[in-house]
Amino acid sequence: MPHSKVLAALDIGSSKIRTVVGVVEEKKPLINIIGVGVSPSAGIRKGIISDLDEAVANITASLEEAERMSGEALHRVFVSFSGPSLETYDSKGVIAISGSNAEISEDDVDRVLDAARAVSLPANREILRIIPKSFTVDSQHHVRYPVGMSGIRLEVEAHILAGQTSAVKNLEKCLYQTGIDIEDIVPSQLACAEAVLTRRQKELGVVLIEIGASSTSLAVFEEGTVIYSAVLPVGGEHVTNDLAIGARAAIDTAEKIKIEYGTCLPKEVNEREEIDLSQISKSDTHSVNKKHVAEVIEARYHEIFLMVHDELVKIGRAGMLPAGAILCGAASKTPGVTDLAREVLGLPVQMGFPTQVEGIVDRVDDPGFSTAVGLLHFGNRYGSSRSLLNLNFGNLGNSILDFFRKLIP
Ligand SMILES: Nc1ncnc2c1ncn2[C@@H]1O[C@H](COP(=O)(O)OP(=O)(O)OP(=O)(O)O)[C@@H](O)[C@H]1O
Ligand SMILES: [Mg+2]
Repeated sequence: MPHSKVLAALDIGSSKIRTVVGVVEEKKPLINIIGVGVSPSAGIRKGIISDLDEAVANITASLEEAERMSGEALHRVFVSFSGPSLETYDSKGVIAISGSNAEISEDDVDRVLDAARAVSLPANREILRIIPKSFTVDSQHHVRYPVGMSGIRLEVEAHILAGQTSAVKNLEKCLYQTGIDIEDIVPSQLACAEAVLTRRQKELGVVLIEIGASSTSLAVFEEGTVIYSAVLPVGGEHVTNDLAIGARAAIDTAEKIKIEYGTCLPKEVNEREEIDLSQISKSDTHSVNKKHVAEVIEARYHEIFLMVHDELVKIGRAGMLPAGAILCGAASKTPGVTDLAREVLGLPVQMGFPTQVEGIVDRVDDPGFSTAVGLLHFGNRYGSSRSLLNLNFGNLGNSILDFFRKLIP
């Protein structure tokens, strides 16, 4: 009988808390989704716990719904970390190779990554992931995996994702109070990439753009590995806020206008079309022009994609990624968003949906579930590496090595 295990993922977003439960079987790439839970994320602001009791109640509701649907009692979860408090840094480390034959060992790779960790991060930051981008052995650059090579000097260029210590600690406290253990805390764009990007896209060069409620996270892949990531403090809730002002409507009405009538393509909207707000709201009774609504929405998404473009300019990849841009996150569902992104970024653009799943697929077949499903794939692929949070170097190195090895095609 094939060996199987149950994995659970908790994506704590700024608008929704999503739990997904899946069963993985040995040697089977598909994850069988058996339970889903969704609750509003009151008590969480911009990815940070703002009201512990409220957050605990909502996380518990999401977990319980998934437990009921799956029939599994959940004890451990993979948790996402997102929002403006997730920061990213580039770093370098260098060490001398010891030993009689000057052959690079796994310990040397651990040591050089530790040197890269010693980068002067601002105070009160907790490293969630350190990703080796490339190694240099003596004067040989762009080495992917140096173990076994000969040399006397080993350098690494690494990318670090870190969270504010208080934000990470409060997340841990919150989950402790729900009575569930954390398998791992994973930056959301890394999890998301596991569900929506193919190995070929990561090899060719691709940018993943996850548009959530409070922020837009991006991750750039090349030659199979992450070379850059960033979090931009703008997302779907800013579109809603703009509409509330532009349409002089209550925030809930603005959200409904956006979901029901929103588009990023004002050119395609008839100037004379009006939206009667009394049909969707009790408090607002006036009408708003549909083209005006589209113009407001387009302006904010245009700004988001310009910010993404600026990030790509910073790393010299603007218009240069052969596999283009993949959009996910629930705020990428606005009609016309791929056309607008294509125009602003000058890249091929597609929507990303969670892949490699079976079971109750219809419940997760949505760009908003990419991170939750991605957490399951991440957990299945890399396992737990909680040591990454504990600055425990021995385990840290092994986790990183496992992580890195599995990135190598
Ligand atoms: N059908 C839709 N069309 C357009 N926007 C949508 C749609 N459904 C949801 N949204 C928007 O998507 C945003 C929520 O996205 P998502 O659920 O991915 O965010 P989150 O994970 O809760 O937050 P974050 O990742 O920023 O912490 C909200 O601003 C919401 O208005
Ligand atoms: Mg999210």
